[in-house]
Amino acid sequence: MGSGLILGIESSCDETAAAVVERGDRTRSSVVASQIATHAIYGGVVPELASREHLRNIVPITRAALAEAGCSLTDLDAIAVTCGPGLAGALLVGITYAKALAFALNKPLIAVNHLEGHIHAVLLKAGNGHQASGISPSEADESLPLPMPALALVVSGGHTHLFLARPLAGVWRYELVGRTLDDAAGEAFDKVAKLLGLGYPGGPWIDQLAQFGNPKAVPFGFAQIKNKAHLEGKGQIPRTKGARIAPIADLDRHFLFSFSGIKTAVLRYVEVHGLRASCEARQMALAAIEASGQTPTWREARALCDQQTLDLIASFQHAVVGDLLRKTFAAAQAVGAASVLVTGGVAANRELRVRFTAEAAERGLPVAFPALALSTDNAAMIAAAAWPRFLAGEFASMGLEAEPRLTLG
Ligand code: KG4
Ligand code: ZN
Repeated sequence: MGSGLILGIESSCDETAAAVVERGDRTRSSVVASQIATHAIYGGVVPELASREHLRNIVPITRAALAEAGCSLTDLDAIAVTCGPGLAGALLVGITYAKALAFALNKPLIAVNHLEGHIHAVLLKAGNGHQASGISPSEADESLPLPMPALALVVSGGHTHLFLARPLAGVWRYELVGRTLDDAAGEAFDKVAKLLGLGYPGGPWIDQLAQFGNPKAVPFGFAQIKNKAHLEGKGQIPRTKGARIAPIADLDRHFLFSFSGIKTAVLRYVEVHGLRASCEARQMALAAIEASGQTPTWREARALCDQQTLDLIASFQHAVVGDLLRKTFAAAQAVGAASVLVTGGVAANRELRVRFTAEAAERGLPVAFPALALSTDNAAMIAAAAWPRFLAGEFASMGLEAEPRLTLG
C-alpha cells in the first residue's frame, strides 16, 4: 500500500475546502476558504457568486492543504471530491478540478456524498495538522471509538436528517430514519437571525447571544406532524436541498422535523411586541460597523439587544435544540442504535452539545460530535469518508458528474 494519504476537495455550497487525511482518520491538514463575506450582504448564498469564488479559491486552497500536510501531489494515494448534494455550479468546480488532478497524476478518483462526509467528520482524530486546522487533539480523540450502529443527526444549513449508520465488512451503510419536511434547522437559525437584524450566518450569533436570555421566556412549541400523506397531498414542496428529494413514505412521522413554523412564530412575536423597529436599528448599526471596515462582534450585537430580545433568542434556540433532542433520542431508541452522533454546522451549537451530552448520559448512550472546526463544511470529512471506498477499490470514472439532488440511505 502507498502513503495512505487522500486529498479531499469540497465545494458543494459556500466554502471552498481542501484537506489531506491519512488512513481515513488522521487530519494532516484542513483548509477552508469561507465565502461568508461575499454572501453576507445578500443574507444567504448566491449560487452564481459561489461558483465564481470556488473557481478563484480552489487552486490556492489545495496548495495550502498540501503544504500544511507537508506532502506533495505525488505522495497522494487518491483524490476524493464531493459529488452532491449541493449547488450544481459549485459542485462542478470541485469535481472538474479533482478529475484534472486524478487524470494528470494517474491516481484514483473517489466520489463522496456530502452527507456521508458530515457523518465521517465525527470519526476523525487529530493528526499532525490539527493545530493548523483549529482542531485540538483532546477534542478530536475523546469520543472514539463509537459503538455501532450509530444514530446520526446531520443538522446544517441545508439538511436535517437522521440516519442509522454502520460499517458492514468495511463498507458503510446508511438508512434514512427521519428528516425535515421544510426548512433545515440551520436555515431556521439563519432566517431568525436575519429577521432580528443579526449577521449571517445566523447560528453562531444566536449561539452567543442565547447565553444572556431566559430560554423559558417564550414557550415556542412544535406541532406534531400528524399525517405526512396529507402534507404531501397538499402539494407542500419541501424547500431544502435534501428534503426535496429524500423519500418520506416509509418514515415514522415521529422522526419528521418541520422548522418553518417556528420562524413564523418568532416573526409574529416581533410584530406583536413592537420589536420590528429595534431589529431594523440593530441591523443598521451592525451594517455601519461593517461599512467602517470592521467585523462586528457578538459583544457589540449584545449591546444592541434589550432583555426581551435576548429572551426571545434564548427561547428560540432552546425550542429548536429540544425538538432535535427529543426526536433524535426517540429514533435512537426505536431503531436500537448503540450510540448517537451529531454533525453539521448546527452541531457546533453549545446548548445543543450540552443538552445532547446530558441526555445521552442519562440514557447510557455514548454521544459524539466532530471537533468544532469540522462541524461546518470542510474537506477533511470528505477525505475521511473516501478511505473505506479507497480500500474497497470503489473508484469514480472520469465521467463523474455533479449530483445536486444526491440522497443518502
Ligand atoms: O454544515 P454547514 O457549514 O453547511 C451546510 O451543509 O449547510 O452548516 C452551516 C449552518 C448555518 O445554517 C449556520 O447558521 C449553522 O450551520 N451554524 C450554527 C452554529 N454554527 C453554524 N447553528 C447554531 N449554532 C452554531 N454555533
Ligand atoms: Zn454541509
